[in-house]
Amino acid sequence: MTLDAAPLAGVIGHPIAHSRSPQVHGHWLRTMGLRGHYIPMDIHHDDLADALKMLPKMGFVGINVTIPHKEAVLKLADIVTDRASLIGAANTLIFRPDGKIHADNTDGYGFLENLKQYAPNWDPASGPAMVLGAGGASRAIVFALLEVGVPEIFITNRTRIRAEQLQSDFGKKLKVIDWHLASSSMAEAALVVNTTSLGMVNHPELNLNLDVLHPGQVVTDIVYNPLETTLLRRAREAGCVTVDGLGMLLHQAVPGFERWFGARPEVTEALRIEALK
Ligand code: ATR
Repeated sequence: MTLDAAPLAGVIGHPIAHSRSPQVHGHWLRTMGLRGHYIPMDIHHDDLADALKMLPKMGFVGINVTIPHKEAVLKLADIVTDRASLIGAANTLIFRPDGKIHADNTDGYGFLENLKQYAPNWDPASGPAMVLGAGGASRAIVFALLEVGVPEIFITNRTRIRAEQLQSDFGKKLKVIDWHLASSSMAEAALVVNTTSLGMVNHPELNLNLDVLHPGQVVTDIVYNPLETTLLRRAREAGCVTVDGLGMLLHQAVPGFERWFGARPEVTEALRIEALK
């Protein structure tokens, strides 16, 4: 790489065509007038280790990582942040000048920034949170909620053992609730978060009783297609503050962009429109 070459970054996954990250980073590069390129790359699992060796040599300063490589990159990185290690997945890699690969997970950061933007009055200490789902996204969100001081987290998952695993990884503030008994805990929660794929286009609807939602609660979904899921519509109709999932996707991209291209981008309405194109 020559000294005046524009920095290269990108996203790896398999498949990769669905990723919105190129639109997001491309929008920031253009509107901020920065030199740099952000490239989607379809990398098969068998080629992952070779790709991580080659990309820094080709001038890449870092990459985002998406499905199915978010777990596998942890073993290939030289430095893994504590949160990525506890979450068990990384979505942001930095290729350091000394040749070391630094892996981090910014999903929890994106989740919290989205709440700050659209539910600014939510106080983490105000009451328990209820998290639906116990997959990778749930782990990142639980980590973030504990970090900001949520007193208690009710966690429910179709497959109960995964929720129990989260409890054993994250500790006593987590209380496992049976999926079929989720409604009474949902009624008690100050914040309700759907981290499952239920409600997403071409997926089944969330099969929980939503009649318990009431004013004073904040309800958010990581699903952003559709932007207003049935959960969010029902919550809005019940008088809750609702926050859609698009902002989490946009905010989680901020730390990587800032690190790779040297300027802090903003999550604006124009960016939301661009990401949905
Ligand atoms: P991600 O990394 O996006 O969280 P994941 O690890 O595959 O993806 O987790 C998907 C989540 O959606 C899980 O909580 C999953 O529940 P299971 O652990 O029981 O599979 C949940 N989910 C997916 N389809 C579901 C369905 N039809 N009913 C209930 N939960 C479902």
